Amino acid sequence: MNEERLFTLRNPWFVWSVGSTIAIAIVAILIGFVWLPARSTAFGDLSLWARICGAAGVPSSWYGGNDTSKVPSNVVVLPPSGTTHPMADSIGRGATLATQHCSMCHNVVAPAPVTAPSLAGQYADVIYKELRDFQSGQRQNAVMQEIIAGRSDQDLHDLAVYYASLPPAPAVEKARAGEGPDATATRLVMQGDPQRNIAPCAACHGQLDRKGAAPWLGGLSAAYVAAQLHAFASGERHNDINEQMRNVARQMTPEEIDAVARYYAAMQ
Ligand code: HEC
Ligand code: HEC
Repeated sequence: MNEERLFTLRNPWFVWSVGSTIAIAIVAILIGFVWLPARSTAFGDLSLWARICGAAGVPSSWYGGNDTSKVPSNVVVLPPSGTTHPMADSIGRGATLATQHCSMCHNVVAPAPVTAPSLAGQYADVIYKELRDFQSGQRQNAVMQEIIAGRSDQDLHDLAVYYASLPPAPAVEKARAGEGPDATATRLVMQGDPQRNIAPCAACHGQLDRKGAAPWLGGLSAAYVAAQLHAFASGERHNDINEQMRNVARQMTPEEIDAVARYYAAMQ
């Protein structure tokens, strides 16, 4: 048998077997990526395109904001303090600064106002990174940018280690008696939603595992958590490295944002 004659379009067996393999592949793709996602109820009320992207495991929308020209914010660890300020001194200096300039809003004794996050017990690297981002304008906020503008790097460092050294404040908004955590929120936090590329919040935010610079969210007010998620979703807040949070928040519905906000507000 001559191989050249076997693999030629004039050989009807060859044409038939290659043709049917291609036809089976096309039908399988249509079923797997179009028909099943279009019929599945697991995607909620997403558009057909978003469903197809979900089935293929790629985001349906990429961030198209105009902040790409800026240097990305990239501090994920708390740099070691200069030798002039050993840890205890740093915490002491931080305490003085905080009492004078910060505690009226980030109060560590009484609950903080709902728009300002409680900082007691927050990871030091988070506080340091956020303060640097306010200073550089990577994260914008009329109040905080003004307050932090003239502060030295040592001040930011001392404030970060001071707040991190405090025990976390009690959760601001307790869940009502007899009411367990919301099922939607618990699922998103602990399992995420692979079909929409949402990784479990707990895999980055400290309950299961922690990824660099992700804040502890337990006990923050629901109003603050929801506001930040909306700001990430719209791209108004864009200081998250590699768009980690924007990619999550853009996929969430307003109801899910409210549910996780209440979940975290009631968690210690
Ligand atoms: C007048 C009230 C006010 C004062 C005073 C103030 N802050 Fe803030 N701070 C806020 C608000 C409001 C936000 C939330 C900003 C936003 O919505 O993005 C914030 C956010 C922050 C964050 C971000 C926390 C996070 O989890 O993302 C840090 C860190 C912070 N402040 C530290 C400080 C420090 C340190 C001082 C003192 C030098 C200070 N703040 C003084 C109101 C205040
Ligand atoms: C891939 C890791 C990752 C996942 C998954 C993730 N986050 Fe985040 N999140 C981050 C990082 C990192 C930041 C800090 C961004 C920055 O640099 O300011 C952040 C910041 C936030 C903030 C702002 C907090 C503050 O104090 O300002 C909120 C709220 C938040 N995430 C909620 C969530 C929720 C709710 C989920 C799950 C639906 C989630 N995140 C999933 C990594 C993640």
